[in-house]
Amino acid sequence: MQKVVILGTGGTIAGTANDPSRAWAYQAAQLSVAQLIEAVPALQGVPLEAVQVAQVDSKDMSWSIWRQLGRALHVQLARDDVAGVVITHGTDTLEETACLLQALHDGAKPVVLTAAMYPATSPDADGPGNLRDAVRVVQESARRCLGGVVAVMHGRVWSAVDVRKAHSHALDAFDGGGASPLVALAQDDRSEAVWPSAWPTCGRFGWGYLEVNPPRVEIVCSHADADGWLVRAMLAHAQTSARPLKGIVVAGTGHGTLHEGLAQALREATQQGITVWRSSRVARGGVLAREGDEWPAVPHLTAAQARVALTLSLLGAGRAG
Ligand code: SIN
Repeated sequence: MQKVVILGTGGTIAGTANDPSRAWAYQAAQLSVAQLIEAVPALQGVPLEAVQVAQVDSKDMSWSIWRQLGRALHVQLARDDVAGVVITHGTDTLEETACLLQALHDGAKPVVLTAAMYPATSPDADGPGNLRDAVRVVQESARRCLGGVVAVMHGRVWSAVDVRKAHSHALDAFDGGGASPLVALAQDDRSEAVWPSAWPTCGRFGWGYLEVNPPRVEIVCSHADADGWLVRAMLAHAQTSARPLKGIVVAGTGHGTLHEGLAQALREATQQGITVWRSSRVARGGVLAREGDEWPAVPHLTAAQARVALTLSLLGAGRAG
């Protein structure tokens, strides 16, 4: 039987509280991934390997941690004795990591991200159940020859590009931005989960993109009184910075519309060679491209995911040759 490798990166799933009755007084990223596995009786006897790649609160996620993760994935996924990989992650930036891995992975084997909203010491800890589900999803995906990147949270499997944190503290905190889950996992032995014939197609750009230093891409938001001050402040420093500004993702109102004051500043940015992409600050639905768009619309990604996608695009991912 092939193994499932679990790569730990930290998060609330590995969090502990001194007083378990005070749900929010905890520290993320305290327990090792090996300890997380030990706490799940259903995983006893399952062929698993644990690798601690990082130990962070995912608000502090960085390109250098993504690089370590990419290297670990490269090694583990190449092993004949490995069916696929689970990544334990914080919920706060899970959607960014998922979107990045989806772009880079070749899609041959399953990579499943999971997390938790309550720390491991909470009486209602959701991490053990999510970890058990994530391992099962790797095993079942491998059995069905499904490769790609998905996220498993609260009994549902989400596409890596649809998934997003939609509630700051509810146990059922993730949704698909308007898209449905790929699979609703059966919660008892009587019901059968319905599985698709394939996971969403990966970008196949390769882990090597993580080895180079990324260009600076920042996010700005359109809002009442948005007069472009922030964009002009960035432009004033853009070229003197050690990592010059190369791209801006703007989280627009509604269908990606922009305050005229902000749009004027973004025109100045475009004239200075900065690439501008539009997303929406609205939680569901995304931005569809329309004829005459001044800047490209990122159809479905959150602004944070669009920042990842623009970074890869500026690195040349997707360009022929
Ligand atoms: C984190 O993102 O690492 C902390 C919050 C969480 O995992 O829910």
